[in-house]
Order: sequence, then C-alpha cells, then structure tokens
Amino acid sequence: MKLILLGPPGAGKGTLAVRAVDIVNVPHISTGAIFRSAITAQSPLGLKVKAIIESGKLVDDETTIELVKERLSQDDVQAGYILDGFPRTIKQAEALEKFSKIDKVINFDIPDKAVMERLSGRRVCKNCGANYHIIFHKPKKENICDICNGELYAREDDKEAAITKRLEVYREQTAPLIEFFRERGLLIDIDAQPRVEGVVNNFKKAIGI
Ligand code: AP5
Repeated sequence: MKLILLGPPGAGKGTLAVRAVDIVNVPHISTGAIFRSAITAQSPLGLKVKAIIESGKLVDDETTIELVKERLSQDDVQAGYILDGFPRTIKQAEALEKFSKIDKVINFDIPDKAVMERLSGRRVCKNCGANYHIIFHKPKKENICDICNGELYAREDDKEAAITKRLEVYREQTAPLIEFFRERGLLIDIDAQPRVEGVVNNFKKAIGI
C-alpha cells in the first residue's frame, strides 16, 4: 500500500507512522527525518538545509523532489511505503504523480491549539530520533530515551517563532493539497485529536483494517 500522511506540523504524523509500519508492513519515509540526519552528519545536504529548517521554512522543491524520487526507486519500497512530510507543495505533488501511484492520502484533522501543545512539549532522541512528549508520552527516565538510552532534546524548529512560521507555511503551501488529493478521490480525513491509540484506530478504519 502506498500512503501519504498529510497534515499540519505536530499533528502526530510521525507518531502514527511508527505504529502504521507494523499495521501495513511497508517502510516509513520521513523527509524531515532524512534532512535532520543530514544535518547531524554535516553532509553537503545538511549544511544546505540547516538554516532553512530551523527557521520553519520549506526546503526548495527541486532538492526535495530529487531526494524522494531517489528514495522511491529503491527495492524496499516497491511494494509500498508511508510518506510522512512529502508532498508539501502542489509542485511536489505533481512531481510525485509522475514517478509513483498513490493509493490513499490520510489527512490529519486537528486545531492549531492542539498542534502548539504537541510541538512545544515534544522531545526527540538525539541518537535514534524517537519522539516523546513532556505530558502525553513521557520517557521512563527523565530526558533519556526508553529505546536506546540516548539523550532527549527539543527540536530547534519547535521554538515558538518557528512553530508560528511552520503553521503559516502549512496554510499557504501545504493545505491546498487537501483539495488536490480530494479531487483525485484519494483523500481520507481522520480525527487526529484523540490520544495515540484513538488515532491508530481512526487510521485503521480509514484504510479498512
Ligand atoms: P517534518 O519533520 O516533516 O516536520 P512537520 O511536518 O512539521 O511534522 P512534525 O515532525 O513537526 O510533526 P508530526 O506531525 O510528525 O508530529 P509528531 O508525531 O512528531 O519537517 C521538518 C522540516 O523539514 C520542515 O519544516 C521543512 O523545513 C523540512 N521539510 C520536510 N519535508 C519537506 C518537504 N516535503 N518539502 C520541503 N521541506 C520539507 O508529534 C508531535 C508531538 O505530539 C510529539 O511530542 C508526540 O509525542 C505528540 N503526539 C503525537 N500524537 C499524539 C496524540 N495522538 N496525542 C497526544 N500527543 C501526541
């Protein structure tokens, strides 16, 4: 199954994707995670995108489309994938149509207030990238990852100014994709406000499991 998770920053796309991998048995591809790994590795891509990402703006379409096109050409995703964070512009969606055929687009319906609460409390493992939240998903030991014992940190783009910018960018450049995919009969809205188990159940219903 070839799925897109679409929604505002902090809607819970990455959290659901980790669970959905075991439900639909296909790999999870997060463009944000690929960019963050490149930043940590200080690769040419990482150096190019660091300031853009930290300010809450989008990486240019050309760079992002090339990255995803290359990733979707690999063997492990020929049977399917979960795309999280791509496409984010009409130009990216039009490019994707040319190199892959999507089955469903899951649109996360959630108000800004909930997004602010989720992002401002998010903590991420420096080592394995696992996500936590200071209220909704606390690690067993404060600031330590349950999975790998890595140290937890707050993402640079989870500061208030960057969150505000990301929401503005979402409204201007990404929200138009809701109509783009609805017109193609691919869009399914899910209520993303419940806690994680509720969202997982909403996702299962949306894909008919
Ligand atoms: P990216 O990493 O994709 O960021 P995003 O879309 O802003 O999404 P987030 O990772 O912030 O949120 P999420 O929806 O995954 O929520 P999460 O599950 O973590 O992209 C980062 C940057 O990279 C972009 O700003 C851009 O610069 C660049 N980029 C990436 N893709 C690009 C593209 N295609 N084109 C151009 N540039 C691109 O959850 C958030 C918090 O809430 C966590 O703490 C979690 O524990 C908690 N939580 C999750 N679900 C629930 C729930 N149901 N109940 C309570 N708490 C919950």
